Amino acid sequence: MKRAKGLFIVFEGPDKSGKSTQARLLADTLRGRGHAVLHTREPGGTSVAEGVRKVLLDPALTIDPLAELFLYEASRAQHTNEKIIPALKAGQIVISERFTMSTDAYQGAARGLGLKTTGTLNKIATSGLMPDITLLLDIPVAEFDTRDQGRELDRLERENAEFRRKVREGYLKAAKADRRAVVLNGKLPADVLQKKIVQLVGKKL
Ligand SMILES: Nc1ncnc2c1ncn2[C@@H]1O[C@H](COP(=O)(O)OP(=O)(O)OP(=O)(O)O)[C@@H](O)[C@H]1O
Ligand SMILES: [Mg+2]
Repeated sequence: MKRAKGLFIVFEGPDKSGKSTQARLLADTLRGRGHAVLHTREPGGTSVAEGVRKVLLDPALTIDPLAELFLYEASRAQHTNEKIIPALKAGQIVISERFTMSTDAYQGAARGLGLKTTGTLNKIATSGLMPDITLLLDIPVAEFDTRDQGRELDRLERENAEFRRKVREGYLKAAKADRRAVVLNGKLPADVLQKKIVQLVGKKL
């Protein structure tokens, strides 16, 4: 999809890898420099998509993998069309926590639905919109258990370590195939990561 204006930045990474932390820091920095920034997240980001998010992350529900995939894509279609594309058209910087690469890693790789299927549906849901830069925060599987202990886990976070291993591998594979993706060591201190990220994004501005 051709786009004249705006910049689309996506944070990706396994659960608790630091996406929200880094997205917030980056949004603050860019706003401080006078940029108009839309900071948003998936699944969610609109009323409809936040409704879908509730279903997707509800630990009480058992969701068929294919149904799960379609729910993510439904949420993404609404979010992309209602929020992301209009903001980019208005020249804003959009920062999204998660986007299509999450579906490749979780549904394509970890659930085993395959990258061909997720790739096709991602393209349809986004009308082909792709991030200008994807920042993948990579953490070892064991790191999950050391962060945010005591917080209630959502449906996806209740999956086992084997699932998380597949998610991580799926992410690394997807990032390798995407020339606009950068893999960052999510175990670095947050302020060190932030500096690296500001540098990387600065090159795109
Ligand atoms: N670089 C870091 N090193 C160590 N801990 C971190 C780092 N960045 C964030 N954390 C901590 O890890 C936890 C998860 O961070 P955060 O909520 O930013 O991750 P997330 O990827 O958005 O998680 P989720 O997938 O649940 O949305 C928080 O307790 C946060 O303070
Ligand atoms: Mg988060």
